[in-house]
Amino acid sequence: MGSPAIAILGTGSYAPAKVLTNDDLSKQVDTSHEWIFTRTGICERHIANDEETTSFMAAAAARIALADAGLTAADIDLLIVATVTPDMQMPAAACFVQNLLGVPARAACFDVNAACSGFIYALDTAWAMLASGRYRHALIIGSEKLSSVVNWKDRTTCVLFGDGAGAAVLGPARGTAEILGTRLYAEGTHTNLLCIPGGGCLVPEPAANPEGPQRAIAMKGREIFKIAVRGMEQATREILAGHNLTPDHISCIIPHQANLRIIHALALYLEVPNDRVFVNLERYGNTSAASIPLALDEARRSGRIKPGDLTLLVAFGAGLTYGSALVRW
Ligand SMILES: CC(C)(COP(=O)(O)OP(=O)(O)OC[C@H]1O[C@@H](n2cnc3c(N)ncnc32)[C@H](O)[C@@H]1OP(=O)(O)O)[C@@H](O)C(=O)NCCC(=O)NCCS
Repeated sequence: MGSPAIAILGTGSYAPAKVLTNDDLSKQVDTSHEWIFTRTGICERHIANDEETTSFMAAAAARIALADAGLTAADIDLLIVATVTPDMQMPAAACFVQNLLGVPARAACFDVNAACSGFIYALDTAWAMLASGRYRHALIIGSEKLSSVVNWKDRTTCVLFGDGAGAAVLGPARGTAEILGTRLYAEGTHTNLLCIPGGGCLVPEPAANPEGPQRAIAMKGREIFKIAVRGMEQATREILAGHNLTPDHISCIIPHQANLRIIHALALYLEVPNDRVFVNLERYGNTSAASIPLALDEARRSGRIKPGDLTLLVAFGAGLTYGSALVRW
């Protein structure tokens, strides 16, 4: 007998109420709505307040996903949070979320750090653990408070990122819905292209040299752009080929929401019309690990995903990491 079929049983998302528009940003740094919008497609992003920590937002998204799945926190025996902005260096954000939700002590709770590919990495991990038969219901959450690691004086990065969370509940398939495949990749030769150099053991904070690397996002945007398109195309083509599918079989592609030009370049290379690619980055910016589950939840709730549809999730992020997941609904 093969492994049991595992499906996404419910989704949920959360975004802070506070919205920061491009015009607001143009009052803080030397930029404009025109520059940000034409280069990225972003119009505004949500910014968390002091109470809205990564675990707070994760728990809010998770409650909605649990209700959507018809389950409660008591049913969860595996909880994975994908994040680069945990509330603390330790313990894991997943343990804070466990406490907020009341997930039982018999659950395994841990974080994964694959940056913007984090949700795909968490999905792959949870799927494998559930398929092993040793766990039954998983809660996987991408949650980020990137506003806490953005250098608000650096116009080349601060315009790109936002805060939010998205969650999914995984468990035994109930009908046609099933996770069909995942692919994970990493290119550690490119760790320098996108990083938070300070705050780890290499450059502990407070840094001895205040002019040196800080606990803030540092990025080489142009280099990342090219690898992002190439990596996401590879992750898409290889997963589809492995299932004898072509892009035509996919009714909705949900890509990581970093830059509309990256998303359109991917669609062009895959020869997929733009209207089959879900986009919501104009309202959120790049929310890293939260981006795909937030978009997935919006796509489902807006009717873009129907029972029986094949959906492809595809992401890239710091590492550099990339990956894809093929999901039937
Ligand atoms: C960041 C990004 C939007 C920049 O776009 P770009 O077309 O590559 O622009 P450049 O970095 O070449 O900058 C062009 C000019 O705009 C300026 N500029 C940069 N940010 C600006 C801003 N917010 N407002 C106005 N001007 C800006 C630069 O200083 C540069 O000026 P110069 O020509 O006088 O030197 C783009 O490279 C990108 O999206 N890369 C991928 C990043 C990403 O996705 N990161 C997350 C990965 S998960």
